[in-house]
Amino acid sequence: MANPTITPTQSAPVCWLNGKIVAPEQATVSVFDHGLLYGDGVFEGIRFYNGKAFRLQAHLERLMLSARAIALAIPYNIEALTQAVLDTVAAAPEQNGYLRLVVTRGPGPLGIDPSRCHSPQVFVIADRLQLVSERVRNDGAKVIIAATRRLGADGLDPRIKSLNYLNHILARMEATHAGADEAILLNSAGRIAEGSADNIFIVKKGELLTPPVIEGALDGITRQVVLELAEKSGIKFRETPLAPYDLFTADECFLTGTGAELIPVGHADGRALPACPGPVYQHLSAAFKQLVNQEI
Ligand SMILES: Cc1ncc(COP(=O)(O)O)c(C=O)c1O
Repeated sequence: MANPTITPTQSAPVCWLNGKIVAPEQATVSVFDHGLLYGDGVFEGIRFYNGKAFRLQAHLERLMLSARAIALAIPYNIEALTQAVLDTVAAAPEQNGYLRLVVTRGPGPLGIDPSRCHSPQVFVIADRLQLVSERVRNDGAKVIIAATRRLGADGLDPRIKSLNYLNHILARMEATHAGADEAILLNSAGRIAEGSADNIFIVKKGELLTPPVIEGALDGITRQVVLELAEKSGIKFRETPLAPYDLFTADECFLTGTGAELIPVGHADGRALPACPGPVYQHLSAAFKQLVNQEI
């Protein structure tokens, strides 16, 4: 599903910027920032429940790897970023919400060369989440296969969670235009990669299947949690390339993401899936909630 839409709040969202919590009107970056000009930067979306960030370490490790992969030197180490997140959550008006941790290349001369950008900008925003609608949670999401393809690892490695979301945005626009809730992107070979802001799982004959990251999927934290839960629950699972045919003929399908958590899929390109919410989804969704309660 969507990277959660930030809803207008009665209390303003909270922002930590380059070392301190700032007033919303001071939460700004330069128009010369290459994050804005070229999408040159990396980010994380993190949930907090009961005032605690879920799987924070995993998110920060992924952020560090994304940054290393694009040679972006984050001016804070993991401990300092952890503290930034803790401070932001502590200042947030709600106990439950969503964090957006962003590192941009920083301001520099026009032109894409990042070598003259010397001050990466780091900020963390905490806000409420617009939860997925009850209709989608109960009846399942309608997904389409987008004509827009996912960039492959030969273009931009899917493990890099970069600020470049344009082809995901185009896919999402296709879904909206078609009256669907989410778009599934294929890779250049026509195999399933992921949703516009989530990973995809299908269930066939009791086995849980998801495309390997190399097929063009973000190495999702929620995806990883679901695989751990499947293992613990004795559900057979496999990372394997999937074609649209596999989705259309699946017994169940669901999407995973920090914002979405686990979302059942009811229709794929107009084909009703036989079980929605299916038994494997229901089991894993309950196990996910239990895990959140245990870890928080
Ligand atoms: C393209 C894409 N795929 C998958 C995901 C799910 O990843 P995670 O579970 O780490 O939130 C996201 C989350 O933002 C995403 O943007």
